[in-house]
Amino acid sequence: MYWTLELAHNLEDAPWPATRDELIDYAIRSGAPLEVIWYFLDLATKMRMPMKAVPLTIAIDGYSSSGKSTLAKQLAKKLGYIFVDTGAMYRAVALYFFQNKVNLLNHVEVMDALAHIHISFKYLDAKNTTFLNGENVEELIRSVKVSGLVSQVAAISAVRKKMVSLQQAMDDGSGLVMDGRDIGTVVFPRADVKLFITADVKARAQRRFQELTSKGHEVSLSEIEENLRQRDKMDTERADSPLKMAVDAIAIDNTHLNIEQQFAKAWEIIQAVLKTRNS
Ligand code: DC
Repeated sequence: MYWTLELAHNLEDAPWPATRDELIDYAIRSGAPLEVIWYFLDLATKMRMPMKAVPLTIAIDGYSSSGKSTLAKQLAKKLGYIFVDTGAMYRAVALYFFQNKVNLLNHVEVMDALAHIHISFKYLDAKNTTFLNGENVEELIRSVKVSGLVSQVAAISAVRKKMVSLQQAMDDGSGLVMDGRDIGTVVFPRADVKLFITADVKARAQRRFQELTSKGHEVSLSEIEENLRQRDKMDTERADSPLKMAVDAIAIDNTHLNIEQQFAKAWEIIQAVLKTRNS
């Protein structure tokens, strides 16, 4: 039967599907006729293959500009999961504090400001976009001004408390990839997969420099490197939820990896977890 062979050949190239959903997807992509799809589905049922993969909660932590969000986005897209960039949430709070001249040392002012902050995400022009009180702030929160202030804001316990509870409420059990600094340690200590992304500070500075200058921001490489060093220091040394690798996280150092290589490493880890969860 020609189509059966064609399908089998296609399956050989890719990992064996773990769920009936994946199997149907492979079959349709290989152009198999309906009777072949039925045949494989029947086989899958007899093998007690699960209908859908058990959705995972994936926590990705790591240093500033280490490529966490790029990886998190890729994984969420591939798995059809929700993606949340928690750095964008702290950045939005920092922007609000800056615009409204909130005194970071005044607890009453901080609490009052937090009560007036509403952060949401929308998928716009194929891009995850951050909204602060209904305004698109995606560009503004990436500015050097906000980058210079955000670690101080993220060190305030009241800010963290509010962000962590918002983040925990975003996991509706349908599959989530969240990136940040404390996702595997504080937000989802029982996450199914925890990845910790690192890279040499010079490599990170170079990547951030390219990203910002390509968007027309006037910045110098040394200024960016200095900002990264300061943020690393503040993120790892703050009293509340400092950046640290969870004991059960898997580290990926991407100093010498390109985006595809990093993805391949992470994907291998996730496939291994999915296999054990679905078997
Ligand atoms: O990932 P990023 O560079 O956009 O994060 C901005 C800042 O927010 C960073 O200095 C650390 C802080 N942050 C945090 O403290 N906890 C998180 N879960 C995410 C970010």
